[in-house]
Amino acid sequence: DWTMAAYRDEKIAQIREQVGDAKVICGLSGGVDSSVAAVLIHEAIGDQLTCVFVDTGLLRKDEAKQVTTLFREHYNIPLIHVDASKEFLGELAGISDPETKRKTIGRLFIEVFDRESAKIEGAEFLAQGTLYPDVIESVSSSSGKAHVIKSHHNVGGLPDYMKLKLVEPLRELFKDEVRALGRELGLSDAFVGRHPFPGPGLAIRIPGEITPEAVETLQQADAIYLEEIRKAGLYDQIWQAFAVLLPVKTVGVMGDARTYEKVLALRAVSSTDGMTADFYQFPWDVLAKTATRIINEVRGVNRVVYDVTSKPPGTIEWE
Ligand code: XMP
Repeated sequence: DWTMAAYRDEKIAQIREQVGDAKVICGLSGGVDSSVAAVLIHEAIGDQLTCVFVDTGLLRKDEAKQVTTLFREHYNIPLIHVDASKEFLGELAGISDPETKRKTIGRLFIEVFDRESAKIEGAEFLAQGTLYPDVIESVSSSSGKAHVIKSHHNVGGLPDYMKLKLVEPLRELFKDEVRALGRELGLSDAFVGRHPFPGPGLAIRIPGEITPEAVETLQQADAIYLEEIRKAGLYDQIWQAFAVLLPVKTVGVMGDARTYEKVLALRAVSSTDGMTADFYQFPWDVLAKTATRIINEVRGVNRVVYDVTSKPPGTIEWE
């Protein structure tokens, strides 16, 4: 009988066989996929694995801290935390075009990752948390069968001056299977159940120019939104929920004063694989409570709207 426990053991044996006694570098993004890959590989080869976590400064509030704590303190996995937020925000300054943002982030990510991993002597392998849908999407787009809607920077491999071989133990799995494997490896339900988060992070949730202030505003609003979703017990029914900070100001009234601040859009969808999605039908009171809190607690936002577009025709992310 097929079980996740047997699958885990089989993968561990395969990783040992592939890697031998060589060193492996794993790029951690903070997301579930790369974390599960890292924990699995660590089970297989222990301290032959070093994780490199490139912190773009574009993660959710407190997420960088959660990742480093989990890996260093809970799992004792060697982890290099590179705070590259200044570099990323610096290069992104003045860029509004979504594809230029994605390409800039992708390029910088590889540069920073390369620079850091070059410090790990004798590494022969690069581990990635590539999933089956990533494999399909990149194969079909590179063979010209599909239009590239958005350039992902997770798949596509290595700059050629890095001659590392790939270890991709999740290549056959869908998201729900990765979550099951994560549980099998002892990761908590709360951790493996986290919503997917895109590589370019909050940069693609700030249409228009990205500033450090905009990132912070978005982090605050997004954290309130997720807190209310968790309080309402809805987090696990939703595939992804996040806020988008719009480069549009509108007029409002606070007390007896006129305000002129930004609009924040809330998005939530249900989906099984991210390829298609329905907008999530919240109970109104959850949205109302979230909107009130955001407007009262987050400076610079005076209006909240809800996105009722499904995929297709909309994509899940706004950029
Ligand atoms: P879209 O917006 O294309 O997103 O409907 C589908 C799913 O993919 C995620 N997404 C990304 N994930 N790197 C990632 O790792 C990316 O560049 C990227 N762009 C979108 C998105 O969050 C959704 O789950």
